Amino acid sequence: MSVRPMRGLRSAAIRAWLDHDLRSQAARALRRVPDRPRQIVRERLPAWAQRWVQRTRSYLIEPLDPRLLEPLATEPPERLADARFLTDELLPGLGLGGVDRGLYPPELLPYWDRGVLSIQFPNQFGPYLAALTRLDVVSYLELGVAYGGSFAATVELLRRFGLRRALAADLDPSMLWLYAACRPEVTLASVDSHTPAFGELLREHSPFDLVLIDADHSEAGVRADFEAVRPHARMIAFHDIAELNFPDVAKVWSELREQYADEYEFREFVEQYPGHRQHLGIGLAIRREPAGA
Ligand SMILES: C[S@@+](CC[C@H](N)C(=O)[O-])C[C@H]1O[C@@H](n2cnc3c(N)ncnc32)[C@H](O)[C@@H]1O
Repeated sequence: MSVRPMRGLRSAAIRAWLDHDLRSQAARALRRVPDRPRQIVRERLPAWAQRWVQRTRSYLIEPLDPRLLEPLATEPPERLADARFLTDELLPGLGLGGVDRGLYPPELLPYWDRGVLSIQFPNQFGPYLAALTRLDVVSYLELGVAYGGSFAATVELLRRFGLRRALAADLDPSMLWLYAACRPEVTLASVDSHTPAFGELLREHSPFDLVLIDADHSEAGVRADFEAVRPHARMIAFHDIAELNFPDVAKVWSELREQYADEYEFREFVEQYPGHRQHLGIGLAIRREPAGA
């Protein structure tokens, strides 16, 4: 039996829901709630109620809208491999996110709290993505996806360069449910990376050409995530290697650079916006080919 009519029906239902004014009104109202009441909700509600609020938000009100990613499907490949184009035009246009507005320099604020809500600086993420287009990434895991914007942008871009499957792992990856519903090659996993379930997940889905670690930012957390994914990945990226608020990530990154100098080539994407505090930063460890390979 053909499944096409079901797919067509499902996408039509999704499009209708995304366009429904009730949903956009609710999303707008939610965005207007000031920080203080948000904090009270976070502090006072029991864990089950917080989960319910988050689920309602991500399922009914603010799932990532796959249509926001259309430029990644339509731009010619040579533009998508161009770091300057990604940095100056495409990534800001897709939209930036994160709870802290102070993270972004003034020139990026018009793009903040919009679109796909990717928590990245375009001048780091652009050159990083452009480099990935030349590194034969067929399988991808992002550990720690938050709103899903960076994950979906990475997947949509790399699909144009041969990506075949992708896994989004997070304590709660539900913002991506709608995107995953439109992309059969994408799997979502609700998992704590510090539990045996993560090891099982890795065994089930590996090998990966690329894993991005952007989850628990403590020293022990980053190390444990690196050790967990290391046997399963050819390349391992770390987010926040230059982030002043997460010095542990920088510490682990520089230790790994020394410890594994023979095994990996290390690249850094840490450009900053002039006059702004030092933030974020992406490190990429690429496993060296064995001699004679
Ligand atoms: C900084 S956000 C990720 C941002 C995202 N990569 C981006 O660029 O937009 C960190 C995410 O890691 C998740 N996380 C934290 N600890 C985790 C753990 N132990 N296992 C899985 N996910 C975790 C959080 O739920 C959160 O969504």
